[in-house]
Amino acid sequence: FDLSEHNTLGLAARALHGGFLTEPQDVAAAHDFASRRGLPFHLLGGGSNCVLAPEIEAVVGLVRLRGRSLDRSTPDLVRVTARAGESWADLVAWTVAQGIGGLENLAGIPGTVGAAPIQNIGAYGIELADVFDHLTALEVGTGRRLRFDRAACRFAYRHSRFKEAPGRYMVCDVTLALPQPWRPVLGYAGLDALDGPVTPRRVMEAVLALRSAKLPDWRRTGNAGSFFHNPILPAEAVARLPEMPSHPVEGGIKLSAGWLLEAAGLKGARHGGAGFSDQHALVLVNHGGATFEDVTALAARAVRTVETRFGVTLVQEPVTLR
Ligand code: EPU
Repeated sequence: FDLSEHNTLGLAARALHGGFLTEPQDVAAAHDFASRRGLPFHLLGGGSNCVLAPEIEAVVGLVRLRGRSLDRSTPDLVRVTARAGESWADLVAWTVAQGIGGLENLAGIPGTVGAAPIQNIGAYGIELADVFDHLTALEVGTGRRLRFDRAACRFAYRHSRFKEAPGRYMVCDVTLALPQPWRPVLGYAGLDALDGPVTPRRVMEAVLALRSAKLPDWRRTGNAGSFFHNPILPAEAVARLPEMPSHPVEGGIKLSAGWLLEAAGLKGARHGGAGFSDQHALVLVNHGGATFEDVTALAARAVRTVETRFGVTLVQEPVTLR
């Protein structure tokens, strides 16, 4: 099953078996099929947060459950529900087009609705956790349908319980709760200087402009977004480092992986067809024909170089499937 068209990094990749899951019950059949052959079973959404090996010894299910709806029955809240295979970016644009604010800072993020809670997507001052109400999921091995509210998801920076047990659950649908009246989040540099009336649409447009100025578009230059987490270190450890951009968060001080990579000389560095973007050092891009080996070799070199230079160990953000 060819996955070359199903990963935004644009790697040539095949799985032993694969197919599209359009209804929740499809997952049981796919999982049984894998079990009978003694193969691992993986789920993929938009393929925007993964690094794929050329020959994946597994069964891969591409989640394509469609449908979305709005619930305005509560006066101070709009609830938005979307099934897992919907495009996240389209969902944001759809709510904003109806004048509903709350998701605009998360505009333009590639990938599906179902993948959004798994890594708790975040950008420009908002994380999914901030607008999350609940999700329903199937426990893949048993077929049990479960509901997880925000606390049950154990969200943290680029983390949730679903990262702790990869493949155990298939997210079926996600419900977001957007408080009304809308209160824009404009703390991020570049969003704080909007002149004239501030509307969800204008904030979304500003976010999209920031994204296209900073981040390479995977449709033109394959990439999987930020390739490493921004490291969170204890204050004592940061005090021993040279002066660099940082900001306090729960559990320590968050550094910029992009800054560390640039300072270590990796911005624009290449290995075969893979390179760190010369627009934004944190984005590993496919300049054309990059192989899995190119990507893993370049990533390993970056981790080593940053470790040697700063004593900070970068952790890869996208999931590797092999
Ligand atoms: N920086 C550099 N050189 C670079 C890139 C960045 O020095 O080449 C430094 C700058 O000091 C800059 C700072 O890093 O001020 C932060 O950069 P930016 O504002 O672009 O954000 P980021 O921390 O690199 C995070 C998310 C992005 C998200 C942006 C905006 C992670 C791993 N990444 O990037 O998310 O869009 O903030 O909120 O947290 C993604 O996860 O795929 C992603 C793109």
